[in-house]
Amino acid sequence: MEKIIIEGGQRLHGKIAASGAKNAALPILFATLLAPGTHRLSNMPELADVSSTLSLLGRMGCPSLGGSTTKIDTSRVVFNEAPYDVVRKMRASVLVLGPLLAREGEAHVSLPGGCAIGVRPIDEHLRGLEALGCEFDLSGGVIHGKTAGLRGAVIHMNSPSVTGTENILMAAVLAEGISVIHNAAREPEVVDLGNFLISLGANIEGLGSSTLTVHGVARLTPASRPYRILPDRIETGTYLAAAAITGGHVTITNTDPSLLTSVLETFTEMGCEITTTNDSITISSNEIKPVFVKTEPYPGFPTDMQAQILALCTLADGRSSIEETIFENRFMHVPELARMGAQIETSGRNATVQGAEKLEGASVMASDLRASAALVIAGLAAEGLTQVLRVYHLDRGYEHLVEKFRTLGANIARVDEEIYDEALLLDAIHGEHG
Ligand code: UD1
Repeated sequence: MEKIIIEGGQRLHGKIAASGAKNAALPILFATLLAPGTHRLSNMPELADVSSTLSLLGRMGCPSLGGSTTKIDTSRVVFNEAPYDVVRKMRASVLVLGPLLAREGEAHVSLPGGCAIGVRPIDEHLRGLEALGCEFDLSGGVIHGKTAGLRGAVIHMNSPSVTGTENILMAAVLAEGISVIHNAAREPEVVDLGNFLISLGANIEGLGSSTLTVHGVARLTPASRPYRILPDRIETGTYLAAAAITGGHVTITNTDPSLLTSVLETFTEMGCEITTTNDSITISSNEIKPVFVKTEPYPGFPTDMQAQILALCTLADGRSSIEETIFENRFMHVPELARMGAQIETSGRNATVQGAEKLEGASVMASDLRASAALVIAGLAAEGLTQVLRVYHLDRGYEHLVEKFRTLGANIARVDEEIYDEALLLDAIHGEHG
């Protein structure tokens, strides 16, 4: 296994491009099952979760050619199961449920694992699909679903689950009649999935609002042109936070500032200077002011940016407070940041962060994707060497992370986890092969 090593203290500067959004790419890949034939998707990020999805679809009988423009052939489905060895690595595999039920009338999906950030049930998914005419039973850790035919229904979601909305939407587009989904998730990635479905011939109204109306159609067909995946707003925000903590000056291109309104407001409140164009964001930072942040469903501050902003708060000039309202156990970065000298107290869903004079490099590890990103951000500002273990979390969601940070001037490299000698590690960072 490998680890990421960082020698902190370098101000980030320069320009990098945002990648396609992981959380849009995954549902869209699963949605290709709804329209038998060959699909082309551009701006596809090279990520472990994308590879896992393509390999799951491959096992189902849908071969693909991955890459920035990914081609997938969903003409035939020979296997309607998402087994535990795939689902445990990627919770989003549950997104296969809606498309398989709509296409095959039957699906078997292991109960999801994924990021260890709370209970994360899928009751909303199942309730919505039941309303559309599916039946489920659970045995041996596997959800077995079947339907004799989907029909439109009015669905009230208790919480606006992102993947729940996506699963229900993917089934509703092929249900007979009209479906209305109330309290639907409004996240841009749900909108991107909806737009992709529309490009296949689906009839959906209200995308981006909390009420979606779907007029079911008999069939969907692949679009003739490649569909371009939305830019990754969380990846964009992560690099902005990294720039801010190092007092840097960084431009992210190929992004969309309108997807990050609440995040950009937070950076501004924290004393950063933000300028935008239609597709780029530039951040400059000289000071870090404390802030109050509360995570909320879109358009509120995203829970997927909480860990990164918390890392930034560790060096703010005063006391910040962070409230996590989406997940009940999403402060796993806190004890690791504390080992680097951060002063943080947590109580339930609240964290209070007293800005410290400095952070010190340490060996750290996190058990989820965004928490790992927070540790990299802290490492970029810490004195000395930081080693971030369990790099596979970062591989799930950040395309070319080390290369992008090196482009911005960071002293960062990826090495075998078994290398401990500091001279060798520094050589990896500063040598030409770092
Ligand atoms: C998606 C994102 C994830 C992000 C999260 C919240 C993907 C692949 N993942 O995850 O990066 O952190 O949205 O923005 O898009 N809940 C229920 N019952 C359900 C489903 C959810 O109670 O059936 C609760 C969850 O426990 C959680 C909240 O709703 O407290 C939000 O979860 P949800 O929106 O479903 O997150 P995901 O779709 O799993």
